[in-house]
Amino acid sequence: MLRRDFVLGSLTFAGAALLPRISRAEVQAGKVPVPFTFDMTPPLATRDAFVEWAIKNRGEDPKFLAQRWNRLQALIANKDVWDDKDKIAFALNPREDFCRPINRAHAYESAFLDIGYGVTISGPHAVARMTQSLDLKRGEKVLEIGTGSGYQSSYLSRMTDKVFTIEIIKPLAERTRGIYDDLIARGYTEYKNISTKQADGYYGWEEHGPFDKIIVTCGIDHIPPPLLRQLKTGGTMVIPVGPPGAQRVLKVLKQQGADGSITVARSDIFNKIVPFVPFTKLEGDVIKGAHNGEGKDKL
Ligand SMILES: C[S@@+](CC[C@H](N)C(=O)[O-])C[C@H]1O[C@@H](n2cnc3c(N)ncnc32)[C@H](O)[C@@H]1O
Repeated sequence: MLRRDFVLGSLTFAGAALLPRISRAEVQAGKVPVPFTFDMTPPLATRDAFVEWAIKNRGEDPKFLAQRWNRLQALIANKDVWDDKDKIAFALNPREDFCRPINRAHAYESAFLDIGYGVTISGPHAVARMTQSLDLKRGEKVLEIGTGSGYQSSYLSRMTDKVFTIEIIKPLAERTRGIYDDLIARGYTEYKNISTKQADGYYGWEEHGPFDKIIVTCGIDHIPPPLLRQLKTGGTMVIPVGPPGAQRVLKVLKQQGADGSITVARSDIFNKIVPFVPFTKLEGDVIKGAHNGEGKDKL
């Protein structure tokens, strides 16, 4: 069981007494009471109002909901999110379901967390600012490289119905696919918006391109030319670029000049070094080394 393992009578935060009652049978069935829609608007003005709404509509654990709302306030204060669509996507996104059971209690802390296989779920501030910088709109097609825990794609699936994500580590890709399928079975229909694949994401996902947006969640020393090619003109890519362990997260805009030439404008979305796990390389079925040194940012 992924969640719903909370005791109904153990609410401790202010206003708990006012919360709507969910029957024990509903909790045990583990079904989401109200299926996701893109126009869902949880009240975000106060923690109690949000928690009350989310228990009733999403059937989620009030302890995690309160922590999620608290983290959202920190994201807003830190200017990691500013659009309502991004605030709502964060507020609806159950990070606890994408953390390993041993780390679930830390799901809403600011740090990245271990998810096994030598990789991590990125911290909530990094995920939020990278997503906000993409400025993903409903109906746009987005490609993620580095599915990992599945949390980033889960976030994206609340903004568009066309999410494509690639993970290189086979057992991790399978585990995360299983998490999505379990959640879909419980009524989280939004995960039907996500298509997953196990492969080396350096080469993108040609059959589904071109993409309006691309987000890369592993670090590399150049922008992979195949990804740049699969990005639409006018599209945005967010990608950690730099030497191992010392990347800067770039927002890359692919533009076309009046003379038809393609140019790429880059800006640093954090203005500091943010280390990411390496953008590794598949040789046959085996992960061997990384793609560093392979490209010259050519189109
Ligand atoms: C920071 S972690 C996971 C972040 C992830 N977006 C999340 O929400 O948990 C980066 C992921 O990129 C994956 N990765 C590294 N190189 C890759 C490649 N060439 N193709 C696809 N995935 C890759 C790693 O295995 C790892 O799972």
